[in-house]
Amino acid sequence: MTTAILGISAFYHDSAAALVVDGEIVAAAQEERFTRKKHDPAFPASAIDYCLKEAGLKPEQLSYVAFYDKPLTKFDRLLETYLAYAPAGFKSFCLAMPLWLKDKLHMRRTLRRHFTSQARLVFTDHHESHAASAFFPSPFDSAAILTLDGVGEWSTATFGSGEGNKIRLLQQLQFPHSLGLLYSAFTYYCGFKVNSGEYKLMGLAPYGRPVYQDLILKHLVQLKPDGSFWMDMDYFNYCQGLTMTNAKFHELFGGPPRPPESMLEQRHMDLAASIQKVTEEIMLRMGQEIHRQTKMKNLVLAGGVALNCVANGRLLREGPFENIWIQPAAGDAGGALGAACFVWHQLLDKPRQPGGQDAQKGSLLGPRYASEVIAAFLSEMDAPHQRYSNEADLLQAIAALLAQGKIIGWFHGRMEFGPRALGARSILGEARNRTMQSTMNVKIKFRESFRPFAPCILQERVADYFEMRPDQESPYMLLVASLLPQHRISLSETERKEMEADPDLRRRVNIVRSTLPAITHVDYSARIQTVDEKRHGRYYRLMKAFEALTGSPVIVNTSFNVRGEPIVCTPRDAYRCFLATDMDALVLEDFVLLKEQMKASVTAAEREKYLGQFQLD
Ligand SMILES: [Fe+2]
Repeated sequence: MTTAILGISAFYHDSAAALVVDGEIVAAAQEERFTRKKHDPAFPASAIDYCLKEAGLKPEQLSYVAFYDKPLTKFDRLLETYLAYAPAGFKSFCLAMPLWLKDKLHMRRTLRRHFTSQARLVFTDHHESHAASAFFPSPFDSAAILTLDGVGEWSTATFGSGEGNKIRLLQQLQFPHSLGLLYSAFTYYCGFKVNSGEYKLMGLAPYGRPVYQDLILKHLVQLKPDGSFWMDMDYFNYCQGLTMTNAKFHELFGGPPRPPESMLEQRHMDLAASIQKVTEEIMLRMGQEIHRQTKMKNLVLAGGVALNCVANGRLLREGPFENIWIQPAAGDAGGALGAACFVWHQLLDKPRQPGGQDAQKGSLLGPRYASEVIAAFLSEMDAPHQRYSNEADLLQAIAALLAQGKIIGWFHGRMEFGPRALGARSILGEARNRTMQSTMNVKIKFRESFRPFAPCILQERVADYFEMRPDQESPYMLLVASLLPQHRISLSETERKEMEADPDLRRRVNIVRSTLPAITHVDYSARIQTVDEKRHGRYYRLMKAFEALTGSPVIVNTSFNVRGEPIVCTPRDAYRCFLATDMDALVLEDFVLLKEQMKASVTAAEREKYLGQFQLD
């Protein structure tokens, strides 16, 4: 008899469902992709439907439903925090309570409403879910585990170890002392959205100098040699208020928070650089300590902070661990997968089969669409297209368009699980093109961005371009590495001066500093995705075709969406995004659509509708 375990994360941020059948990760997806609401926290009904459909199961065939945290313990933390700060937290208490009383507190009842079957309900601890998502799908027989996020029930960081089919958490840091919340406080202070703008702050850091690092370590954070720390809550407001920071914090850093969308000043870049350095220091110290205690050569990571790919890159280069694996859905969406894996291995004592590759399947765990479905859709839309029956012809045609500097919407295979597009729902471009970054930002993503795009590089050529070993993989775009000196272009004296005087980063972004300008940050770093045939199949073969044509093993990969929109899921989502932007071509599996062949009236109308819907981030 098969054992089907459904994992769920919901009601906080980025709801998701994941399905593990007899130990195999069969499907996983975030709810936002179906509802088209970014970071949708609602009960993931659509994601659950999809997971069951993928496996050909009905809800009553589920053996277990695992929820990714323990709502009662979380509620306990909430109440204790409110009481400790009362009456200061009364306003946020009143805002939080209705949600708790409606769904969260009665999670068992909520789940039973959806699953009337005999499925047993299991509630795993929040950080246990993260730890399970990091270790069980990893390629390692044994590994040290580090989880870092904002907060779960009480824990904000844990470490432990995984061996065979068991994980064990040894130590934890508790709320309100939290690296995730510390980083979010600076995200908020610098004018970005908490829970999603952290990535922007990390991207801003290379423009600044860490001049506030000492101030942070003197006043905000008391950091110990083992990486544990204590935060002075006199500077923060998240325990009792609706903001992250308070007047004392603002006074310390020289002014009020930056209003969102306003001009970025050097001060904000320096703040970003400073908190980034502190984060790296904390993670490196933690890494040292975990290694000292466990003596293991492998490390696995999960929790929202594990999406900090700059810190991950340093951990890999400078830390004591030989190998690192990071759960691609490191945030709370991945908790759904962790909870399901936890039931199978930890509770049911089923063995793992690690060896060679991880069990995450390239994180390509979402829906796919058959050619017949796409053909029917295109005929419904009356959209001019060409269908290729031969893959090599298709890939050659797309490689040629890329080489001409065209921007391609690439939709192939199963959708990615986790926040990054990894070549299944991606927008692609030529990385050597000097104007690619600004064109993609302004005409496709509808944003002015200081962040360069991420490169995809053929696995076998990674050491030719970046400071990485030839065998080092980064299939999930979770590591940052530097471009090798031979690909860098040094700046002229005039460019250097212009760059320093540049008030709003626009000029800095456009100064060509390498042979791959679209993907090189000001400090020559890049967020890398290595692409291999086993994981990436057709996407790898597209890159091979591009390499054969141009000699370059690198292309730009950005997520297939516009600003404020979740990554596209269906052919319809992709088609609408294609029409509404200045993308030159859309590839839907074997079908190619060219913008020049589309009716101008259709694209103009779609753009108007689309941007009204999504542009606000
Ligand atoms: Fe979390």
